[in-house]
Amino acid sequence: MRIDIITVLPEILESSLNYSILKRAQEKELVEIQVHNLRDYSLDKHRRVDDYPFGGQAGMVLQCEPVDRAVSALKQARAYDEVIYTSPDGERFNQAMANRLSLCGNLIILCGHYKGIDYRIREHLITLEISIGDYVLTGGELAAAVMADAIVRLIPGAIGDEQSALSDSFQDNLLAPPVYTRPSNYKGWVVPEVLLSGHEAKIKEWELQQSIERTQRLRPDLV
Ligand code: ADE
Repeated sequence: MRIDIITVLPEILESSLNYSILKRAQEKELVEIQVHNLRDYSLDKHRRVDDYPFGGQAGMVLQCEPVDRAVSALKQARAYDEVIYTSPDGERFNQAMANRLSLCGNLIILCGHYKGIDYRIREHLITLEISIGDYVLTGGELAAAVMADAIVRLIPGAIGDEQSALSDSFQDNLLAPPVYTRPSNYKGWVVPEVLLSGHEAKIKEWELQQSIERTQRLRPDLV
């Protein structure tokens, strides 16, 4: 899989994409993540990529040309499954979407910024608009990092124990059951008996019950 992220602030992404599971997945060549500075595609001598909005509102708007040049350069090299734009008015990101996107070959993520981007980009180049939640970030970089993380960890081999991605919260619209580690008794805080029993079927049943109870209590909207 390959993810190309286009941004005016590559620095924000470099750190979040180059640690832990995302770093290892890239080292294992399960995914290639390339971050592109939109300014590299500006034809302006000051590398400007934004301008004042028609209509006189406040704020700056990303221009069509650098974005079009960046997306076209990438599309010339390979076909993309989706050209994603991060925006608070996009479709809400969730685990089902992460699952679907993790099966794609190539993705472009264009990070929104400033007041927005020229709407013609959204009409002509973008195939999917995604919001990571009902709040407004200063830019789309953190949203792109969140999506890349959620997508990449689902690629088989990205996390050591493949089972653990399947037992994540939300994977079956259920929250994950509690987990514990040694010691089994810490200051009188004890681990549920059943987990120490070695009885696999009983443990599975207990975990399912816990998942159902936690989902009903904490996220009744998922039930
Ligand atoms: N850009 C600004 N806010 C955002 C959000 N909530 N989701 C995705 N991109 C954004």
